[in-house]
Amino acid sequence: MPKIIIDNIPVEVAEGVNILEAVRSIGITIPHFCWHPALGKAGACRACAVKMMEGPVKGIQMSCMLPAQDGMVVSTTDKEAVAMRRAVIEWLMINHPHDCPVCDEGGECQLQDYTIAGGHGIRRYDGLKRTHVNQYLGEFIEHEMNRCIQCYRCVRFYQEYAGGTDFGVMGRSGNVYFGRQQDGQLESPFSGNLADICPTGVFTDKTARFRARYWDYDMAPSVCPHCSLGCSTVPMARYRELLKVTARRNDAVNDWFICDRGRFSNTAVNAPGRPRQALVDGNSVTLNTALDSVSERILAFIKQHGSESLAIIGSPRMSHEGNIMAARLRDALNAGALCYFDDTPKANSTIDAVSQLNTKNAASQEDVRRADMVVLAGCNLLLDEAPMMALAVRQAWRDGAKVYIVGTEYPPDHALLQLFEAEEILSLDDVLLTEAKRPVIICGTDPAVPKIPPSIYGAKLVYILCGPNAFGCARLAVKHNAVSCSEAFAPGKIKGIITFEADIPAAAFEGVTLLAAADWQATDLIQRAEVVLPVTSWVEMEGTFVNFEGRAQHFSKIMNPGLPIKGLDPSGHPPREHGTVAPGGDVLPSRDIIAEIIRRCGRESVGTPPTAETDCFLTAELTEKTSCAKQL
Ligand code: FES
Repeated sequence: MPKIIIDNIPVEVAEGVNILEAVRSIGITIPHFCWHPALGKAGACRACAVKMMEGPVKGIQMSCMLPAQDGMVVSTTDKEAVAMRRAVIEWLMINHPHDCPVCDEGGECQLQDYTIAGGHGIRRYDGLKRTHVNQYLGEFIEHEMNRCIQCYRCVRFYQEYAGGTDFGVMGRSGNVYFGRQQDGQLESPFSGNLADICPTGVFTDKTARFRARYWDYDMAPSVCPHCSLGCSTVPMARYRELLKVTARRNDAVNDWFICDRGRFSNTAVNAPGRPRQALVDGNSVTLNTALDSVSERILAFIKQHGSESLAIIGSPRMSHEGNIMAARLRDALNAGALCYFDDTPKANSTIDAVSQLNTKNAASQEDVRRADMVVLAGCNLLLDEAPMMALAVRQAWRDGAKVYIVGTEYPPDHALLQLFEAEEILSLDDVLLTEAKRPVIICGTDPAVPKIPPSIYGAKLVYILCGPNAFGCARLAVKHNAVSCSEAFAPGKIKGIITFEADIPAAAFEGVTLLAAADWQATDLIQRAEVVLPVTSWVEMEGTFVNFEGRAQHFSKIMNPGLPIKGLDPSGHPPREHGTVAPGGDVLPSRDIIAEIIRRCGRESVGTPPTAETDCFLTAELTEKTSCAKQL
């Protein structure tokens, strides 16, 4: 552990830590553009100068390039170091547009921050700026090459970290170009990270361009709801419209990045056709009236058919709190069935998978990144399951891990094999897991794939599950004796259902009365329900998702529910009538809707809706790290 002195402060750092990291560890900020914790050093920007006063190296040095060694004495405030950093910023600004006030990156631009902090305001160079032609890079990423400061972060991320081949750097010397050989959609499923990783505004999120300044956004720490990995995000909204989603650093989960599905697949939140209005038999009513109506219908239904004919349906895409409340509703009404999964094979395989995991053998994404052997069995990581897990496997492979793909059910596609090389084998017996120090087996829950008994191999385990809260639902299903929908709907058993954020195919409930459906997505169920109960999406409420490894992660409320202000009035003006509820804002989280139904049915008060149920997950991570990739 090298001991060094920085600005008269003694510091002890881990072996291999560079001077820039050591400086940052004690809260001192010096400019840096090319160094990034996930990408390492490049020595390209020359902005991180410090002066080495004593020790094995002397004079002005690039702090990101210098590993800390015993006896080093570092000055970040030495006049020569400050002058060097100031000069570098001025050089970078020679070709960079002086247009911060109108630049769409303003407020989230590291170059802007360091330029202002360093005091550069007057342009002395009066020659022409170097200019470039921008490229069309697809519908998600905007290209503005004139802002480039040649830090190489984009190409290091795209090619090295994410394995992309259609984007790179061209040219030489002082005239280099970061882009594609020709215009076209970026092919990498992780391309959106270019907007986070670029320290200026060369790559920006096209879907949110010119919609808001950084300081205008409503934003808070959140969790991605698009698969079971639970990557950390920062959704950003303005005027009740979700405008963009950025990655949030979480070392144990997604590191600094997210996939394009998590970043760009959120249009359903703003969709004009999203259920926002409570309906009873197709007629618009207030949520209060709808809740009264559904409660009356439930009591009448129970009187006519008996409570055992009623089923309560939760869902792996609903928050953990909502699913706990679904179980409480079943108990309060003494309903005949509680369901969290639509079909029996899916329910059984998910419950089986979760039952195999414990705090010792459940692998996180970080465990996968650090693995020295990875075995994929019965899953396709990229296409529709868990893109970020594929990226984690790539990091392990880059560090020398062997990767195996077992069986023929899920042959690797071209996109997956671009990320890492893998040996295809027929059986797990063909792998010498005992030769590895940190082996990880990644399995799907496809019931058709033979089960692997991993405990005998001493490997850590990943099961890719079927939704953001599938792990929580599996635990709740065991605890509350839930059954699958297909089992519950066995002929004659269940005559009426109430669904909460559930995705059941219409054919599954032929002949069953759909008393009420609560959702924020326009599903088949919403079309058929007697009573429609609109609920908040995950960005309009607080809650918890339990991810594939049993990590309970809290997500915060980002924005108030209601129709986006844009579009309410053809002129774009906010509504002129005063009201206490925003148009389309008469909604509640599913867990609160359920609590109200219990109360209005005259059943025992459930008190405050739960915030978590500790025996349903393995690891709680309710305190959030809030730094996002852009803030580095
Ligand atoms: Fe050190 Fe760029 S951060 S040279």
